[in-house]
Amino acid sequence: MALPFLSNRAKKRDQIVAIDLGSRTTKAVCLQRKGDGYALASFVVKDAPAYEKQLSPQVLGEHLKSVMQALDVKARQVILVVGVNDALIRHAELPQVTITDMRAMLKINSKNYLQQELPDHVFDCQILPPRTTAPGAPEAAKPSPRHRVLVGAAKRSLVRDLQAATKQIGLACSEIVPGVVAPVNAFEAAQPEAFAKDVVALVDIGFKSSSINILLDGELILSRVVEIGGERLTTGLAEAMNISVAEAEGIKVGMPQEVQQTIQPLLAPLGRELRASIDFFEHQHDKAVSQVYVSGGAARSEFFLENLQGELMVGCKNWNPVSFLEMALPVQQMAELESNLSQLAVATGAAASVI
Ligand SMILES: Nc1ncnc2c1ncn2[C@@H]1O[C@H](COP(=O)(O)OP(=O)(O)OP(=O)(O)O)[C@@H](O)[C@H]1O
Ligand SMILES: [Mg+2]
Repeated sequence: MALPFLSNRAKKRDQIVAIDLGSRTTKAVCLQRKGDGYALASFVVKDAPAYEKQLSPQVLGEHLKSVMQALDVKARQVILVVGVNDALIRHAELPQVTITDMRAMLKINSKNYLQQELPDHVFDCQILPPRTTAPGAPEAAKPSPRHRVLVGAAKRSLVRDLQAATKQIGLACSEIVPGVVAPVNAFEAAQPEAFAKDVVALVDIGFKSSSINILLDGELILSRVVEIGGERLTTGLAEAMNISVAEAEGIKVGMPQEVQQTIQPLLAPLGRELRASIDFFEHQHDKAVSQVYVSGGAARSEFFLENLQGELMVGCKNWNPVSFLEMALPVQQMAELESNLSQLAVATGAAASVI
């Protein structure tokens, strides 16, 4: 099964449906081909069925069916995005062989290449362009006998379950995309100049976890997952204020400034983890991250962006992941789009990976 990581512009489809199976919220987009480009034809932001446990293919199938109905689309195939904990991404150096051979080598001996045993996993690889070195630099003389490769891995059982769930409702799962890298694809499509030239960090704050991807000259240099997301903030707030989780969620989303003193220390650990990744990158590459682009549920809130910026000491802003698309949304969805933009980065990125 193909796991497209970065854009593969070889094929053009008339309709693309991508569904981001977030741990708290399912997000989906439907793109319709329009001339040389694509239009956003519909989107869905909907509670995930049961975010505490692994879903059976039956439950997932029913959920996917309801998502397709809400999208109001009759597609035959869908792209599914799996969460940051269900598919991992690693940089690796592999011999210069075909991708099929690389996948076979990883299957037999993942430890050798990824420093980690990954039994019963499915792998895919994206070969990265060779590093350009300054003229006259010593490395320029000797080309590496190995490819630099971005490797994705997902449990075989998960891939099977996803295929079974889609098949059960008469659909085919055309790709499975690792959620960690999806914002990179969306950012490349939405902000090609900043993607190509700037040193930026893309942060996605989810429910269970958050991810950070750092880009330099259009290349994904560092990709990390931090096990802190919106859930931790809500439960921390509930404990600190001695209120229920539902009440704390309402306060967090509705009037966070009123409880600023309580929320700030809860955000600090996330800020520290993300800052550590930025520090690591800056130290390794001697380049400063100029801007942090934030997506995910928490990026809907100016309050969170300002506080995150205070923690990271780099400008933090949300961004529009669908800006490269024409708009062909029904009136009601058009009115709801703006407040949902931050959560659509992953689904849109997965769709963009096959454009
Ligand atoms: N306006 C808001 N302010 C702060 N947090 C918000 C706001 N709106 C939603 N959230 C938080 O966003 C989180 C859900 O975000 P998102 O949909 O990105 O997660 P997910 O994709 O389901 O999770 P994961 O990526 O970890 O699987 C929830 O914890 C919710 O409290
Ligand atoms: Mg998510």
